[in-house]
Amino acid sequence: MRIAADTAEMLLEAARAAKRSAYAPYSCFRVGAALLFKGGEVVAGCNVENSSYGLSICAERSAMAAAVSRGLILPEAVAVVGKSGVPCPPCGACRQFLSEFNADMYVVMEDECGFVCRTLSELLPMRFDLISGNGNKR
Ligand code: THU
Repeated sequence: MRIAADTAEMLLEAARAAKRSAYAPYSCFRVGAALLFKGGEVVAGCNVENSSYGLSICAERSAMAAAVSRGLILPEAVAVVGKSGVPCPPCGACRQFLSEFNADMYVVMEDECGFVCRTLSELLPMRFDLISGNGNKR
């Protein structure tokens, strides 16, 4: 199964819109992320930095936290946009954080030809999973 191109483009557009709200005065690297849920619901987020750098929140986690707050916990896909036209793969922390909710979701990233798509389990093999206890259930 692959993500439909029109779905990927729609989700990237939502991520681009969210990126406009990024609060990134320290790195000046603005990121937007958009999650897709069953029924077509989209929840987006942006990176939010802090003068205590370690407190900064990535766009992916900001989007996922917003979604959970709305009762949406099973994302089918996430689109991530950083520097225009350059793939912005989620950082390791975001991979683990998102995998809590769906280790097999699609991860859509911009590239110079349009987009590139992977599954989260491709990006994070042998994720840590406290429930299975062995970290490699999915
Ligand atoms: N950032 C994200 O929002 N998502 C990622 O997956 C990687 C990095 C943000 C964090 C920080 O605000 C800026 O990009 C530079 O690292």
